[in-house]
Amino acid sequence: MLAKKTLNRAIAFVLGASLTSATLAHSGATGIVKERMDGFKAAKKSMKILKSTVRSSDFATIAREAETLNLWFENLDGYFPAGSNPKPSEALDLIWQEYDRFSSIARDSANASAALLRGANEGDAELTREAFSELAASCKACHDDYRE
Ligand code: HEC
Repeated sequence: MLAKKTLNRAIAFVLGASLTSATLAHSGATGIVKERMDGFKAAKKSMKILKSTVRSSDFATIAREAETLNLWFENLDGYFPAGSNPKPSEALDLIWQEYDRFSSIARDSANASAALLRGANEGDAELTREAFSELAASCKACHDDYRE
């Protein structure tokens, strides 16, 4: 009984969270653009959680967020089909003019999140700190060149 109640609450929480992000998505975004905006928004949320948990060496939470981010960046290519940047997308045309470079920055993010997961699993605070900085740098590198 108690377990069911807890489960229901967890589901309500998850649904509530996704509704909120749907509401906050740039109005008018649809399809793949909306999906990736939601994905990036979730990535931002993970980074916020990681900022404090890397500091406090909360390895269980670090591992969970790192795994989610790794999955996201491993699959990022699928969210950027050629020319998928109609307004209100902030993705620049340059992405598809130099796709290999764009894709290699996504690979940096995937590698950094994998290192973060490894550090958390090994309980290695220094590795988690380094990997988190690299991950944050990869977000910035891509946004500097490929986002409006
Ligand atoms: C390989 C490139 C790349 C990487 C790496 C990357 N981003 Fe982005 N990000 C983009 C692009 C391009 C957009 C714009 C997407 C659009 O508007 O269609 C974007 C948009 C966003 C947005 C805005 C979403 C919205 O609602 O419009 C957030 C937040 C964000 N990214 C966070 C992050 C975080 C946090 C990381 C690192 C953990 C990260 N990004 C890594 C390319 C990247």
